[in-house]
Amino acid sequence: MSRWPYVFFAAAVTYILVGVIWGIYMSITHDFATAPGHAHLNLLGWVSLSLMGGFYALLGRDTPRWLIAGNFLLNNIGVVCMAGGLALGLSQTVPIEQLAPLIAVGAFATLLGFAAFAGAVIIGLRNAVPADRRQRTRLAAA
Ligand code: HEM
Repeated sequence: MSRWPYVFFAAAVTYILVGVIWGIYMSITHDFATAPGHAHLNLLGWVSLSLMGGFYALLGRDTPRWLIAGNFLLNNIGVVCMAGGLALGLSQTVPIEQLAPLIAVGAFATLLGFAAFAGAVIIGLRNAVPADRRQRTRLAAA
């Protein structure tokens, strides 16, 4: 198997470790202002990258490497810019207006990353052999 699924899962577990510590910190301090940042880190970082890693391990093995790499890069830029921007803005560390470009870059990188993943799914779907054709091939060979 290619190393790509492991790369996706390595990034995903890194984000969930940070995300869970962030959640515990909010619980202890009773300061929930940055909850949307925590949610985006967990959902875009842990959930989405894990799903993609699972897809590349099981189904998307014939996806071109450049598409997997683009998917990985774009979605990671997206997570870091969105979760980081939300955390800095909602904690009032940096005025939210100044963070709008960072969050916008994160949002569009995320969109393009999911578009790259959609491309991988479409390639997989086109290459998948329908079950009835597979059965006919098996019968013809017997
Ligand atoms: C030990 C693990 C976790 C802890 C301690 C934790 C803690 C918290 C806390 C304190 C809040 C704020 C609640 C409020 O505003 O009243 C929150 C919100 C949230 N968390 Fe977590 N969380 C954890 C794991 C996760 C995971 C794994 C996910 C998703 C995969 C997640 C997704 C969310 C979402 C979607 C919100 C709502 C955000 C919002 O209202 O803007 N959390 N969490």
